[in-house]
Amino acid sequence: MKKIIIANWKMNPKTPRDASRLADKIGRGVKNIKSVEVVFAPPFIHIPAIYKFKTGAQDCFYEKSGAYTGEVSPLQLKACGVRLVIVGHSERRALGETNEIVNKKLKAVLGTGMRAILCVGEAERQKEIAFPKIIRDELHEGLSRIKKSFFRNLIIAYEPIWAIGTGRADTPKNVYEITTIIRRELYRMVGKRIASKIPVLYGGSVDDKNSYAFVKDGAVDGLLVGGASLNANKFVKLVKAVAGL
Ligand code: PGA
Repeated sequence: MKKIIIANWKMNPKTPRDASRLADKIGRGVKNIKSVEVVFAPPFIHIPAIYKFKTGAQDCFYEKSGAYTGEVSPLQLKACGVRLVIVGHSERRALGETNEIVNKKLKAVLGTGMRAILCVGEAERQKEIAFPKIIRDELHEGLSRIKKSFFRNLIIAYEPIWAIGTGRADTPKNVYEITTIIRRELYRMVGKRIASKIPVLYGGSVDDKNSYAFVKDGAVDGLLVGGASLNANKFVKLVKAVAGL
């Protein structure tokens, strides 16, 4: 499976011009890398500025159109060239997004034929519990009553909240253990044939020094990168490390 690395720019950079410069610089650096798919997830307003690249969105609403002031629909994103939408990021959950809302958003995104990344992760590391209930609930409630055929475009990102933006990344060993349980849970839900094709990523303080270890020892199919994706040199190094260059 080709590795996938998503650059989650969050609420950065300031101008469309800065966004296009950052994407151009990274694009030049990773141009010849074939074994890794790089996707940029900028704020909505910068999507047109980087249309040349594979683009994702950081969120969306679950309705197709209508009187929903301030919201953006999956169909609108798709029309702007977006191919993938991050759903249920912990920073959105912290603003009130529930598993029920995440479930509606996943259905809406997958219904358009775009790919969706479902983010799951615990707030605190609980040593005695191998698989925190919160992750199980995020998976089961987030994926409740989703058509089996939609799972083809699903990606899971394991992002322990305590590791996001803190510089305290998880260990590859722990990521291996948790993502193995996540994969097993997916097998139970949709069967091995479909589940084995669902990429499982890691996110949380990934940088150019640890990216390779997560993919090799953590055995994940890719990475969701925040802070380090805003520095072109660092991000290119991070991608190259995963590609084994
Ligand atoms: P970080 O963010 O790489 O800055 O920890 C990851 C994420 O929020 O997806």
